[in-house]
Amino acid sequence: MNVLYLSILTVLCRFASSEDWCYQTQVTCNKTCVGPDEWETIAPECGNRKQSPINIVTKNTLTDSRLTQVQFTGYQEMINTVIINNGHTVQVNLQNIARIDGANLGATYKAQQLHLHWGKNGGPGSEHTIDGEKYPMELHIVHIKEKYSSVEQAIGDPSGVAVLGFFYEESENANKKYEGIINSLENITHPGTNVTLGDISLDMLIPSHDKLEKYYRYQGSLTTPACSEAVVWTIFEEPIPLSREQLSAFSNLTFHDGTAMVNTYRPVQLRYGREVFYSRSYAFCVSTALLISSVFTSIYVLMV
Ligand SMILES: *[C@@H]1O[C@H](CO)[C@@H](O)[C@H](O)[C@H]1NC(C)=O
Ligand SMILES: *[C@@H]1O[C@H](CO)[C@@H](O)[C@H](O)[C@H]1NC(C)=O
Ligand SMILES: *[C@@H]1O[C@H](CO)[C@@H](O)[C@H](O)[C@H]1NC(C)=O
Ligand SMILES: *[C@@H]1O[C@H](CO)[C@@H](O)[C@H](O)[C@H]1NC(C)=O
Ligand SMILES: [Zn+2]
Repeated sequence: MNVLYLSILTVLCRFASSEDWCYQTQVTCNKTCVGPDEWETIAPECGNRKQSPINIVTKNTLTDSRLTQVQFTGYQEMINTVIINNGHTVQVNLQNIARIDGANLGATYKAQQLHLHWGKNGGPGSEHTIDGEKYPMELHIVHIKEKYSSVEQAIGDPSGVAVLGFFYEESENANKKYEGIINSLENITHPGTNVTLGDISLDMLIPSHDKLEKYYRYQGSLTTPACSEAVVWTIFEEPIPLSREQLSAFSNLTFHDGTAMVNTYRPVQLRYGREVFYSRSYAFCVSTALLISSVFTSIYVLMV
């Protein structure tokens, strides 16, 4: 028992000793870890000019007709894998079962892992913001180009990583498709613990594909050190519903120091002239064309 206690202390002290990065919420009283404002000191790329997340100002986005729908492959497969509390977030490892292409990605990307960013008890917690609004949580599904075998390898390529970002919104009713993940949380409250997730597919975790034609696209970075500028971001407009209780369940997890794992997001970064593109759906083109033709028809009818 004493040995176990000592080894836990050793782990705590190792993480408390300066080098490890942490979120702003962990910096407070005793400065025992490196907060977002100082990540640059341990990972220089965090101070560069293509960083993520950003605030998306919708009226300044550029509509791009090449941004067709994302093609999902394997998203309906059941994932037989573990969910892990890694000390910064909860992560689900995905064993290359799923792929994405289309959407002007220019390559096929395979899924590696997913993780989340959240607030406190369902309060604001997303990383990206839309017109300054922070959603309660954000899902990141991390993919790498097919030819690479790990995220570490893919970050050497400016478009080596493709992350799909989804926002959550508070709903009246619980989202039953999330019960597996939410129920698993009570078994992974401490960092370093994991539990097997059963009967979950990626499709169960995201909105139906027909609601995903509207999204934002920009070039950015990983939102944790080393902040590698290798990410093609795709941020979907359609949020995923979760009840207040479901959102709050994530606040039961703890960081290494035993405090509540809350506000796990990096503050928004400057855009430095980068463009943010917005997909233009086929439905939009058709309805606009119909509108224009009906206007011309009525003018014609009036003139005759
Ligand atoms: C801050 O550090 C001091 C000395 O290391 C310790 O006595 C104190 O309990 C710490 N406070 C917190 C809030 O961790
Ligand atoms: C959590 O752990 C308990 C005890 O080991 C187990 O009975 C239960 O099935 C686990 N729950 C989940 C969702 O994994
Ligand atoms: C999950 O936890 C077990 C110990 O309970 C450990 O042996 C295993 O390596 C862990 N798996 C992962 C992927 O972290
Ligand atoms: C979270 O903790 C609260 C208070 O301890 C408890 O009532 C609630 O059931 C927990 N939620 C989950 C999902 O474990
Ligand atoms: Zn993330």
